[in-house]
Amino acid sequence: MKLACQKHLFNLDPDLHYLNTAYKSPLLKSAEEAAIKSLTRSRNPQLILPTDFFTESKEVRNLFGELLHVSGQNIAIIPSTSYGFSTIFLNIKGKPKGNAITVGEEFPSGYFALKKWSEEHEQNLVIVKGNKDLIQQGSDWNERILAAINNDTSVVCMSAIHWATGLQYDLKAIGQKCKSVGAKFLIDGAQTIGALNVDVQACHIDALICATYKCLYGPYSMALMYVDDGFFGGEALEEAWMNREGAEEFSSLSDYNESYMPAARRYNVGQTSNFILTPILLQGLKQIKEWGIDNIQDYCKSLAIPFIAQMKNHGYQFEEEPYICYHLFSVKIKDGKSALLQERLQANNCKLSQRGDYLRISLSVFNNESDLAALSEALIESL
Ligand SMILES: Cc1ncc(COP(=O)(O)O)c(C=O)c1O
Repeated sequence: MKLACQKHLFNLDPDLHYLNTAYKSPLLKSAEEAAIKSLTRSRNPQLILPTDFFTESKEVRNLFGELLHVSGQNIAIIPSTSYGFSTIFLNIKGKPKGNAITVGEEFPSGYFALKKWSEEHEQNLVIVKGNKDLIQQGSDWNERILAAINNDTSVVCMSAIHWATGLQYDLKAIGQKCKSVGAKFLIDGAQTIGALNVDVQACHIDALICATYKCLYGPYSMALMYVDDGFFGGEALEEAWMNREGAEEFSSLSDYNESYMPAARRYNVGQTSNFILTPILLQGLKQIKEWGIDNIQDYCKSLAIPFIAQMKNHGYQFEEEPYICYHLFSVKIKDGKSALLQERLQANNCKLSQRGDYLRISLSVFNNESDLAALSEALIESL
């Protein structure tokens, strides 16, 4: 199915060219309505039934599981990426004198968690950096990541695509190499899941953590975590009552059932139900399912391809397939051009972020040709 522009489903400022879902997605109209409905329901708490503490969160786990091609049993609801990594690292043992690998300029939530764990477990932290002298870094970078993984590797922890440039890593090859040496493969999916198809089992991913306020059109302060079955017996960061068997029976909670809810549910954050924010996430996940992940990526590609071709004619350089993805890609800004570019972007009402030397362009189904025309104009004028 070829998607048409979905701007009508959002309350975006019509005069603005918002090219920054990688910063935060706008709110779906349906999500806004669902959250307001939930907020007003709280005027009368008797309307919140004991079953409501469990039903929406179950739906969220199942829908996110579908996105990753796994069961909702493998999904936990958490508040942030950092919470997820703390949970996962609590449950990983290092190999004696092993190494832990990440990529250069990895997002800090994963980087600091890996660094702390490496120090505590006497692991050598290896950072595989991209070669910034190359115009297209993807092939070289992926090869060097694969070469760095060896029999001493305990963990590889990285984002599915680079958060600042959108460079796409070869998750299948990296996951296969991790499996062959017995290393855990941990992924930050915040800039990826919801816009790009990732099959966690095919990529041998052990855990994937995803903030919901970007590609999932969810709220700030919620995140989702996939864990492989191997984590089902692990230690949770906290002892939430809702994660114990029989928690649905509010009258007998202090009978203290020692058993956890099955599978990944022991890792759910306390107050999992989050009545105001969960409806936002649920609408986002339902909408993504209706659009279809591949259709979302194809829609972004149909906007990106003519834009990239035009910009290349003006001397701008981009990553190439299979290392570029079209919902988030970047263009390198020549030294000294940044201030002029920012001025032109502002004049053209374009909202997007610069990360390091790169202008990060993130597209979504609400963007259209006029957004990219305004961006092209700013980029050309700033030359
Ligand atoms: C790759 C990536 N991971 C995670 C986050 C958010 O981290 P946290 O959920 O710990 O606030 C961001 C935010 O920009 C991100 O880009």
